[in-house]
Amino acid sequence: MHCTRPITDDIHYVGSSDRRLALFESAFPIPRGVSYNSYLVLDEKTLLLDTVDKAVAPVFFENIEYLLAGRKLDYLVVNHMEPDHAATIRDLRLRHPETEIVATQKAIDMIGQFFSEETAVPCRAVKEGDSLSTGRHVFSFVTAPMVHWPEVMVTYDSTDRILFSADAFGTFGALSNLFADEFFFGRDWIDDARRYYTNIVGKYGVQVQNLLKKASGLDIRMICPLHGPVWRDHLEWFIDKYQKWSTYTPEENGVLIAYASVYGDTENAANILANELAMRGIRDISLYDVSVTHPSVIVSEAFRFSHIVFASTTYNMGIFVNMEIALNDIKAHNLQNRTVAVIENGSWAPNSGKLMKEILSSMKNITLLEQGTTLKSSVKENNLADIQALADAIASDLVV
Ligand code: FEO
Repeated sequence: MHCTRPITDDIHYVGSSDRRLALFESAFPIPRGVSYNSYLVLDEKTLLLDTVDKAVAPVFFENIEYLLAGRKLDYLVVNHMEPDHAATIRDLRLRHPETEIVATQKAIDMIGQFFSEETAVPCRAVKEGDSLSTGRHVFSFVTAPMVHWPEVMVTYDSTDRILFSADAFGTFGALSNLFADEFFFGRDWIDDARRYYTNIVGKYGVQVQNLLKKASGLDIRMICPLHGPVWRDHLEWFIDKYQKWSTYTPEENGVLIAYASVYGDTENAANILANELAMRGIRDISLYDVSVTHPSVIVSEAFRFSHIVFASTTYNMGIFVNMEIALNDIKAHNLQNRTVAVIENGSWAPNSGKLMKEILSSMKNITLLEQGTTLKSSVKENNLADIQALADAIASDLVV
């Protein structure tokens, strides 16, 4: 049975949510599920903005047919060709061979790659600034390459002042309500929104900045992303998060401590550091064992905090494997502008500190604190003094 909701008088939400998928993109745990958003415009002409993942195809097609009520579908706007939004294009085409696909030339080429060239016929290639009228609505197209793929564009409805933002302003999490103001977003969604942003497009801060600059020239009253809630209130709050994330500006003055510990001694050092920081008045401290925490969480928390301490045992003369994965993931997502320190452990040949510093030194605008310590198996008095000196150095940065 269909399950739709109007977002304006003549624009309807026709997507749906998947609560069964364990790993988004086969990579990121999504215990709260994910939504695949699609929007149908019932104007003099009918227009659909993106399709959905195949997981929710049955209800998506029921939604469209219910709302079209026998009308033809005139246009399909393809903002993004990743299969979580485009997997059902061919099925849509079979049901609506008359529909003209509207997309960038790159997206049209990708339709040929994923399906066949015939799947993209008829089509209209659009460029930056091109527009399309459906009667009352006028849609204009804004290219957004690498937010998150090269073919991406976003679509602006200048009539109702709605930005259909593709992956931008999306989040993990299945939908019950539809609008962000119907949730306690800052309490219940922000961690998933940050983890989605940082892991999906965190690497492409420059490109996200380019899109934000273009969007700042538009009068936007509503943002309709391809995942997560629709924004019609307090847009500036979420846009500010995007400004911070895309410029690699810490969201909070606080400390992330990520540790890898085989028998608990490196963990002990991490706990002592957190305790020393807390005794110096630092409130925002997050402590994670990288062996039981998915790297996507560590990446997200690294984007959140101003200061990061990595504590790792030495393993096979290298960095403990789960820490190495987390560090390389953070680097791959282009994190910058952080103050960092390292704690190493090694019972006979400590080496992880040097190797962690090599990775951190290869990243942009990273201030590497000289304070830190080398454990030989367990925390001793000299280590305690070093950890207290590290806490002093971080606290002097954070406490004014
Ligand atoms: Fe939600 Fe890049 O696709």
